[in-house]
Amino acid sequence: MDKLVIEGGHRLHGEVRISGAKNAALPILCASLLTAEPLTLTNVPRLNDVRTMRALLSQMGVRQQSDEPDAVTLDASQIDWPLAPYELVKTMRASILALGPLLARCGEARVSLPGGCAIGLRPVDQHVKGLQAMGAEIDLTHGYINARAPRLRGASFVFDVVTVTGTENLMMAAVLADGVTTLDNAAREPEIVDLAACLGAMGAKISGAGSDRIVIEGVPHLRGTRYAIMPDRIETGTFLAAASATHGDVLVRGASIDALAAVVDKLREAGARIDVDGDAMRVRGNGELRAANVRTAPFPAFPTDMQAQFMALATRAAGASVITETIFENRMMHVQELKRLGADIEVEGNAAIVRGATRLTGANVMATDLRASACLVIAGLIADGETTIDRIYHLDRGYERIEEKLSALGASIRRVGST
Ligand code: EPU
Repeated sequence: MDKLVIEGGHRLHGEVRISGAKNAALPILCASLLTAEPLTLTNVPRLNDVRTMRALLSQMGVRQQSDEPDAVTLDASQIDWPLAPYELVKTMRASILALGPLLARCGEARVSLPGGCAIGLRPVDQHVKGLQAMGAEIDLTHGYINARAPRLRGASFVFDVVTVTGTENLMMAAVLADGVTTLDNAAREPEIVDLAACLGAMGAKISGAGSDRIVIEGVPHLRGTRYAIMPDRIETGTFLAAASATHGDVLVRGASIDALAAVVDKLREAGARIDVDGDAMRVRGNGELRAANVRTAPFPAFPTDMQAQFMALATRAAGASVITETIFENRMMHVQELKRLGADIEVEGNAAIVRGATRLTGANVMATDLRASACLVIAGLIADGETTIDRIYHLDRGYERIEEKLSALGASIRRVGST
């Protein structure tokens, strides 16, 4: 298992280019299942989760070809196995995104139930209920969701909870359904808008993506297209936080401010200077950082996927920051690791009170999930001395070449293989 070794204390400076968004790429890869024509995707990030999703699609019979870097053409003219097996689903929950498109295209699907994960229980009941509302017969046996529907029919469905992949799954199911589907209390994340745009380019009729009511008029077939995945807003936010925390000066290229307004506002509140010019953001963290309170909530509020990284920065801010997690019940695992680096953090229920400014000191720490890993990288960058982060396979799931990008910005960071 690889580790990252970081020698802290270097200000980040220079330019970094943001990769394609993991959480847009994963549903859009699954959208290839909806058409018998080739779908070419560009700006596809080189991540382990993307590799896992491509392996899953391959197993189903989707042929793939990469003629250009960061691009892939998927050909689902033939789907041999409408099946997402436990072995793959257990390594990546987003495999559930195959359920809606498989059912819509093949009339049947068998997808393993994901089970709990490090950050929370994460049930998929809304995915199942929504498909049932569209006429699917579903039983849960032997750990699998077994779904059948010769042709899904349009339906009105109100989500009990706001769910990102739930909204995406039902949207993909509805594009080939008979009639109109209305999804209320839908998630509004930018990745949903990106998926809707790709589906639209494939001939789907979708309105309202980005609002809490999405209306989809089913069509008999979708066609192939060429589509560029949006930039990763969480990778962008991670670099903004890292630059601010190290009192650096970084130009982040290929970003989208609209997708990240809540994070930019909070970083500014904490004392970072951020100037936006088109798709470039310059972040300067030269003054003293101040405490800022953060509460995670569905888009457009502060994203749960940036909570851990903000916490690392908060250790360096003067005063008490209250960081409240409202999306996942167990997304504070990084707190214990930050404490090993000397952070002063108290957890009460779903809130962490971070008192700063603290001088962190390097230590051995363990990554527990993807965003916790990014938090520890930022902490390592600001800590005195050497920090070694174990279990960075979590990081490789969602950040493309992070140590290369950080090294180019002046960080002292290297990957070492386990002995
Ligand atoms: N929920 C239910 N029932 C459902 C679905 C969700 O109760 O059927 C609950 C969850 O347990 C959670 C809340 O609803 O408490 C929101 O979960 P959501 O379904 O929105 O999460 P997700 O779709 O599984 C996506 C991202 C996550 C991100 C969350 C929240 C992808 C592939 N994953 O997960 O990304 O944290 O939305 O924004 O899009 C990450 O990239 O590190 C990551 C975990």
